[in-house]
Amino acid sequence: MRWSRFILLQCLILVVIGGIIYMHKDRVIVSKKPPSSIAQWYKPENKRHVWLHTMFKLRREMQAVKFYSSIKDAEHLEKWANQLNEHYLEIAEMVPEWEKKLDKAAMTRLQEVVKNNHFQDVPNALDDLRESCDVCHTDYRAITAIMYRTGDFSAMETSPSVAVGSHMEELSEQVNQIKIASEDGMTDIALSSLDELRNGITVLGKTCSNCHEKEAVVYPGETINNTIASLQNNLKVGTLKDQGRDLGTLAVLACAKCHGTHRLAYDIRQAHWADPNWLTLLKH
Ligand code: HEC
Ligand code: HEC
Ligand code: HEC
Repeated sequence: MRWSRFILLQCLILVVIGGIIYMHKDRVIVSKKPPSSIAQWYKPENKRHVWLHTMFKLRREMQAVKFYSSIKDAEHLEKWANQLNEHYLEIAEMVPEWEKKLDKAAMTRLQEVVKNNHFQDVPNALDDLRESCDVCHTDYRAITAIMYRTGDFSAMETSPSVAVGSHMEELSEQVNQIKIASEDGMTDIALSSLDELRNGITVLGKTCSNCHEKEAVVYPGETINNTIASLQNNLKVGTLKDQGRDLGTLAVLACAKCHGTHRLAYDIRQAHWADPNWLTLLKH
């Protein structure tokens, strides 16, 4: 009797918890994180993004296997099928936690039809194998790219002990100060704020090479500089409309474009690296 009550109580608690979780389904996103052992296959732990390059190989090998089976070229088919096998199994060597994600039976079937020169069966065998690629990609592809391949600005400073975020706040205040002063006809303040903004942009531009080592990212480039020059001129002699247009263009070129790549990716990255504490979890 006492035991059955105890079990009933347990069930009730489970139902309540399940209910609460379900009620919150519209307010949370559940995503799986890749095992941390994958970090060794990405910069900075590795010199290259080895994991990604293994993936590129797999895609190429799948394509080659399909191609050579379609033209019934047994020799090349075998060569590429072997490589596909090797790199597919490598997934579990690189990230042991993902061993169970592999469909080794599908791979064995593919190798068999290749060995027996059953060319017409290769596409089906490839499709079966591809299912295991797709399952893992649905769960982990986007989140891995976000966590391991996007720019990390968290420890970066634009000048000694000025964090990137604080520098950004200043830039934003300067942009708005120009707008306010322009609207209220305070030309001197608008011009001096533009000077500060130009300096701030130049300082920010020196940080690009921290990460963009090979390809030279030019910031501010010629179009940004021309827009600044035009704004400076229009703050003195132009109409309010000219000033607004130049400032808008400047904000798009010098701020919004980079935010589209970097701020967006960085914000999502940080959200995935953060370890939520119990309070945050409970609040949800
Ligand atoms: C156990 C998990 C897993 C399996 C299985 C897997 N992948 Fe991936 N794959 C990933 C992850 C994680 C990424 C994201 C890597 C990144 O963007 O840095 C990825 C990315 C890719 C990409 C890069 C896409 C792009 O253009 O950016 C290709 C191509 C790819 N995988 C091909 C394959 C093929 C083909 C197979 C099957 C033969 C396969 N993968 C099996 C985890 C997996
Ligand atoms: C913390 C490292 C880091 C810093 C600093 C950085 N970037 Fe990037 N940037 C990256 C990475 C990594 C990518 C690749 C894609 C991503 O992050 O989404 C990238 C991609 C880009 C892209 C889009 C792809 C391309 O190469 O055209 C642009 C544009 C860009 N960065 C501009 C800039 C500018 C301008 C600065 C300086 C004001 C800058 N970046 C500073 C790491 C950085
Ligand atoms: C590297 C490309 C890049 C450029 C160019 C850039 N930003 Fe940012 N911005 C970022 C990143 C990355 C963050 C997130 C930084 C953080 O949260 O620490 C950010 C954050 C911000 C923030 C929020 C700051 C905070 O801590 O909440 C403001 C405001 C901002 N930027 C304004 C600007 C303005 C104004 C400009 C143009 C004059 C500009 N940014 C140019 C990348 C850029």
